[in-house]
Amino acid sequence: MTLAEIYQYLCVKLSHTESPTSEAWELLRHATPWQPKDLIARPQADITPDAVLQLKQWVTLRQQGKPLAYILEKKHFWKFDLAVNEAVLIPRSDTECLIEWLLAQFPEDSTKTVLDLGTGSGAIAIALAVERPHWHIIATDQSETALSVAKHNAMTLGATNVSFYLGNWFAALDQSVPGVFDIIISNPPYIANDDPYLQQGDLPFEPKIALIASHQGFEALHHIIALAPTFLQAPGLLILEHGYQQQAQLMVQLEIAQYQNIQGHCDYQSNPRFVTASKPLRKESP
Ligand SMILES: C[S@@+](CC[C@H](N)C(=O)[O-])C[C@H]1O[C@@H](n2cnc3c(N)ncnc32)[C@H](O)[C@@H]1O
Repeated sequence: MTLAEIYQYLCVKLSHTESPTSEAWELLRHATPWQPKDLIARPQADITPDAVLQLKQWVTLRQQGKPLAYILEKKHFWKFDLAVNEAVLIPRSDTECLIEWLLAQFPEDSTKTVLDLGTGSGAIAIALAVERPHWHIIATDQSETALSVAKHNAMTLGATNVSFYLGNWFAALDQSVPGVFDIIISNPPYIANDDPYLQQGDLPFEPKIALIASHQGFEALHHIIALAPTFLQAPGLLILEHGYQQQAQLMVQLEIAQYQNIQGHCDYQSNPRFVTASKPLRKESP
């Protein structure tokens, strides 16, 4: 088959997706040396039988709904490609907003200890580690398989200032890590288990542990808000990603817990996406 023929074939087979042409090129770039400009420059270029076979297998998986990131076993996030598999959430570009905001708060030569709760593929922890080499990042997850993906990514990307711990939120921390942090950041599961959104797009293929939380999606968020003050040093910062309809309730929750400087932030689509707050002031004794 020629480049023009296989491109045409892929676009037709991927017509059910949101962006058939860009998905076709994403697959082509992984299976062949050709780039979009080659479609004009050399449309008759020969595609090897092995590459055609590979592309046909991938497109069949895509037609069955399997996310492109799981097919190619990688996802671009921040400034690098992360290895991903079905054990981890596919990192979302909206999560980059949290990283962008946080980096803007502290200069490059600052020294901070950061806790990333529920690290998944390591997306947040590794981006922070790479951007702030003097920061010490502790990343946790309750999923052992997710942690091995995150460790692999940290190694591949040279993020040597991240350490990984297995366990349930703060319970993952043991004696070997600092007891208190300057920054706690998390993108925890926050979707209610009856939310129809779980049936859409890539979500049916992603791990439930990464998506679903009880109490209408608030359980993990509330747990982190309640326990974070014990693990934050003054004036430590808490940063939480959340669903676009959860911000108002979370801000009330943070106020009740007496956090300071509570702010709500939007993502790149202008949807409410994350909250930031400083450690609550200690109550003065009467
Ligand atoms: C929404 S995903 C976020 C992954 C990654 N931080 C990101 O932004 O792409 C939530 C992560 O929390 C982890 N998780 C769920 N319950 C947990 C718990 N009780 N303790 C620690 N991690 C948990 C999941 O395994 C998953 O990796």
